[in-house]
Amino acid sequence: MDRRTALVTGAAHGIGRAVALRLAADGWAVLGVDLVPAGIPESCTTCAADLGTPEGCAAAIAAARAAGRLDLLVNNAGISEFRPLADATLDHWNRVLAVNLTAPFLLAQGLAPLLADAPGGGAIVNLASTRATMSEPGTEAYSATKGGIFALTHALAVSLGPEVRVNCISPGWIDTGKSGGLRPEDHAQHPAGRVGRPEDVAAMVAWLAGPEAGFVTGANFVLDGGMTRKMIYAE
Ligand SMILES: NC(=O)c1ccc[n+]([C@@H]2O[C@H](COP(=O)([O-])OP(=O)(O)OC[C@H]3O[C@@H](n4cnc5c(N)ncnc54)[C@H](O)[C@@H]3O)[C@@H](O)[C@H]2O)c1
Repeated sequence: MDRRTALVTGAAHGIGRAVALRLAADGWAVLGVDLVPAGIPESCTTCAADLGTPEGCAAAIAAARAAGRLDLLVNNAGISEFRPLADATLDHWNRVLAVNLTAPFLLAQGLAPLLADAPGGGAIVNLASTRATMSEPGTEAYSATKGGIFALTHALAVSLGPEVRVNCISPGWIDTGKSGGLRPEDHAQHPAGRVGRPEDVAAMVAWLAGPEAGFVTGANFVLDGGMTRKMIYAE
């Protein structure tokens, strides 16, 4: 009860795993939630749940309540399933919305009282995406959820302040090992000179959760190595 405590969704892989590792290294007690929990770091308490269902969200909320204290909720779990518009079924749309947008809403709602009681004030960090503001073909469901996260974030910040600060991070290209081998040109297209790493996002989560970010709420932080600032003209 005397340690700062965080719940990180999607803590078994990629960005969520890096966030869980970073917070644990910083001394936080971390509750990691995942559909496939095998990869959740050993330093975390583990909760297996499908956050695409109300029951799964309720299980995660119950696990956090059992811990008795919550300072930080990181709504990270997400599915990046893209489909051509003509092939995008209602089931596909509903599943992407359930995991990427409804779960962050249900977790924020269910955990708000616990977060409001956190000794130094609570914080929520949501994972949006640069795809909230730009698109490739066939990304309707995913992009809609990330635009929704952007809006949900400022709505929650207004509803839950001043006890709880709520912000979102919009990563660009973060290599979680799913991209295959990265080419020199993949790095070079970023003004920062490289593709992003999960640890880049973890560092921003750690800052947003800490006392130096006490005046920061309702904000979206683009973390993309400058990729969305670079104009591209086809040859
Ligand atoms: N990697 C990127 O380039 C990138 C860019 C922008 C935004 N994001 C966002 O960051 C977040 C993490 O992305 P990532 O690339 O690390 O993803 P990832 O696929 O590497 O990991 C996602 C984790 O979420 C878990 N998960 C998926 N569905 C779940 C469910 N129904 N219930 C519980 N857990 C579930 C998975 O098992 C996995 O461990 C996502 O919200 C994603 O949209 C990622």
